[in-house]
Amino acid sequence: MNYQEARSKLEQYGQLHVLRFYDELNDDQKEALLAQIEATDFSILHYVDNPHEGLSFGKITPLGAMELPEIEARREEFTQAGLEAIREGKVAAVLLAGGMGTRLGSSDPKCMYDIGLTRPVYIMQRLIENLTEVTDQAGVSIPLFIMTSEKNHDKTVAFMQAHDCFGYDASKIRYFVQEMAPAADRGGKVFMEARDRICTSPNGNGGWFLSMKKAGLLDVLHEEGIQWLNIFAVDNVLQRICDPCFVGATLKSGCAAGAKVVRKAFREEKVGAICLEDGRPSVVEYYDMTPELLAANNEKGEPAYNFGVIMNYLFREADLERIVDEILPVHVVEKKIEHIDDNGQPVHPAEPCGVKFEQLVVDMVRELSTCLPFEVVREKEFAPIKNPTGVDSVESARALCLQNGIVL
Ligand code: UD1
Repeated sequence: MNYQEARSKLEQYGQLHVLRFYDELNDDQKEALLAQIEATDFSILHYVDNPHEGLSFGKITPLGAMELPEIEARREEFTQAGLEAIREGKVAAVLLAGGMGTRLGSSDPKCMYDIGLTRPVYIMQRLIENLTEVTDQAGVSIPLFIMTSEKNHDKTVAFMQAHDCFGYDASKIRYFVQEMAPAADRGGKVFMEARDRICTSPNGNGGWFLSMKKAGLLDVLHEEGIQWLNIFAVDNVLQRICDPCFVGATLKSGCAAGAKVVRKAFREEKVGAICLEDGRPSVVEYYDMTPELLAANNEKGEPAYNFGVIMNYLFREADLERIVDEILPVHVVEKKIEHIDDNGQPVHPAEPCGVKFEQLVVDMVRELSTCLPFEVVREKEFAPIKNPTGVDSVESARALCLQNGIVL
């Protein structure tokens, strides 16, 4: 794309400020900026003025879960079914690690964060150790796909290599890179990250399967006969991955997906609550909970929306292929966004100052029509690290790890 073409594209979307520093750039920088302008989808910016476009607000009603007593009673049956599927090579794990971890205040990928006290214990190490417990139990290795973003890919791969993949079979690990979207101020003008670069950010965790497809990995899934994908968040250091009992229960339920859920600690806890939306399994995010939904009780007098998802889902691959080309809604999310100001000076905001555009996994759940919510014991399986201290923090996750006998 040449300068004139870039100019007219930017003009069309009201983004001419992107060229503010153009005359000061050297030839390589000019070329890089023009290429980025060509590759950027500025049409997404219209969501700033239409934040609810495409978002469904169907009728929310409660959805129960398969609860612990039933799971305990059938644990052996489910576990054997899950182990069989794993041994047949039908199950793979997908780590969603494209996020930025800005809330932790670290510029490294979140998986590199060290939560150790007497020795290094990296978040990635904890996840691999948890997965290894299952591969040891099953006696086979499990393919592991890791989604990164262009911002953290190289560091993530180098980190894994430097640590010999924490003992995991490197030939079973494949990486793919998620898409990016521009980040903008609240008026819909894209921020500049540098004089020659538009600010971009990973486009949410909902695009993971489309990104796998674009990376050519569906061929791998077909060749290897992988039928179920267990996606999980990078931040929960206690989570069980490809848990045979969960895999078996989901397979036996006949559902297209399973979602691990925990009983909420309190009604306002910042987790998405499993529910029905217009009769289909869905998740209502904590920021979308109305006072009525928060206050609602079921017939037992318990909170009606009491099961929170922990971002650990099992999806039937064939069903994902059916919906992969459907357009997921775009959520406009307020965030702190590092950028440069009109004078080219760096800005490090302490508070949200603009918006990012994200597609979310929860919207895939609704598309699939059937999902088994599967209760797990939160003290054993939910130790998310979102903040340095306080709720869902390094501190709280450390305490939970110690409680579960993990040496830190
Ligand atoms: C998420 C879930 C919420 C759940 C909670 C449990 C969403 C929107 N919400 O909330 O329902 O109750 O976890 O802890 O998912 N990620 C990417 N690429 C991105 C953005 C995120 O790979 O572009 C990954 C992150 O690295 C992380 C996971 O997705 O592994 C969760 O994302 P995050 O933005 O931290 O979601 P939460 O608001 O914590």
